[in-house]
Amino acid sequence: MNAYLFLRYPKMKVYIETLGCQMNRLDSELLVTLLQNRSHEIITARKSADVILYNTCSIRQHAEDKIYSRLGMDAKRKADGKEIIVGVLGCMVQREGVDLARRYSAVDILCSPGQLHKLPDMIDQATAADGLVTSFDPSRTQKHSHETKEQIARDAEAMDVVDASRDPEVMCETSQGFVRIMRGCDNFCTYCIVPFVRGPERSRRPEAITAEVRKLVDSGRSEITLIGQTVNSYKHKNGEATTRFSELLAMLAPIEGLRRLRFVTSHPVDFTADILQVMRDFSNICPYIHVPAQSGSGKILKAMNRGYTLQQYDDLITAARETIPNVVIVSDFIVGFPGETEQDHEASKDLIRRSEFKNSFIFKYSPRPGTISAKKLDDDVPEEVKKRRNNELLTVQKEVALKHHQQYVGQTVEVLVTGLSKRSRKQAPSSGPDGTVQLMGRTTGDHIVIFDAPAALTGKYVNVEITDANDLNLFGELCKTR
Ligand code: SAH
Ligand code: SF4
Ligand code: F3S
Repeated sequence: MNAYLFLRYPKMKVYIETLGCQMNRLDSELLVTLLQNRSHEIITARKSADVILYNTCSIRQHAEDKIYSRLGMDAKRKADGKEIIVGVLGCMVQREGVDLARRYSAVDILCSPGQLHKLPDMIDQATAADGLVTSFDPSRTQKHSHETKEQIARDAEAMDVVDASRDPEVMCETSQGFVRIMRGCDNFCTYCIVPFVRGPERSRRPEAITAEVRKLVDSGRSEITLIGQTVNSYKHKNGEATTRFSELLAMLAPIEGLRRLRFVTSHPVDFTADILQVMRDFSNICPYIHVPAQSGSGKILKAMNRGYTLQQYDDLITAARETIPNVVIVSDFIVGFPGETEQDHEASKDLIRRSEFKNSFIFKYSPRPGTISAKKLDDDVPEEVKKRRNNELLTVQKEVALKHHQQYVGQTVEVLVTGLSKRSRKQAPSSGPDGTVQLMGRTTGDHIVIFDAPAALTGKYVNVEITDANDLNLFGELCKTR
């Protein structure tokens, strides 16, 4: 590095807090490499930081409120004379724009999700002079001009370079690695902010994805998860040639050393039969699908603009179980969407029961400014009713999950050991007479397995005989022969 620049922009201690989905977590991981390349130090003690970065999420009000409260605290610390640079990154920045900094005086940097490659320069700028430093993605509500489209493509390319050049060792605590295959979303579900904050759908070049998976696998990450907002709608066009998601999977699965290949999150509409067939044909593609249903009521699905009928969703679940008999299916639900009646709510319970999901993520509807449902529909389900429905769906899902997990008792499953169990992490791990501690790991179906074994097995694949189960975990004994 140029010595003058080095003096001018000193090494900083940077603290990053990340909210939201896998996309944000990966972005933060990429930022670590970018910032370390500029000689900044990433620290975990927020109090000692020179630069505080929030990688934010707008999916529900609750996620945004958390950041507002942090920004309030930072403003106090700054008023008390603490010299810190505060950067807000990600989806909230794109949703709120410069208003965010007008309302929260602590903010020095605003950086949208597609602009993160510029962040190291933005930190330098904020260090050199007072004043707000910003970089926004083009607004989704505008009709995109030719130049805007080109800018979006250029930004995606720049981020692609960042993705591809990341250090595979960064934050590599386990053998797991995440690879982005597409960005943005064009579905415009009526409740959802994502298409507005993450921009239009763009799929990465298959060669870039393959190279990145290879690099991660070569560095020891043997389980790769492909990520995207609707990962299975991946489609890359190059002249006449089109690569579909199933073809991408078939290209990646044979990579030497890739022991497990997964992907999240899938949209039911794009879950075509060819994807199920490829999953069946390659033994290292995990028999696990996360296909959010959102509701079990056809009327609500329509109001949500989900693009499928209840029958089509049921057909997908049937096809998945027929093609891949050991498939594990996970879903998301929103309770209290505008106009949701008790009958609609009962229909969601029925869907959970008949689909036998391993797990469902259940959320209370949160109107997001600018979305179609927030503009056109009354948030007419009272908060107490949303809470009750949330609890009721959780109870039904728990019953279903318990039955799901119990079917593994007596079976031997392959587990990737991810580290100490929660209990071992809380208490100082007391090792048994033969040096064993309580460990946890994941099956190919993403079940959590708890068992006693030496901590040195972390990152390894072992066989575990399942002896017990509850609605969240499997419990078992390490098999002696691996
Ligand atoms: N792209 C994924 C979902 C991303 S958001 C997909 O389409 O499957 C993750 C989940 O948050 C969604 O599946 C939905 O259940 C929930 N969600 C999205 N917007 C919401 C809102 N406005 N209120 C409550 N939950 C919401
Ligand atoms: Fe949001 Fe729907 Fe896109 Fe998922 S598919 S990110 S829920 S708009
Ligand atoms: Fe949240 Fe943005 Fe992800 S809104 S869920 S962090 S794409």
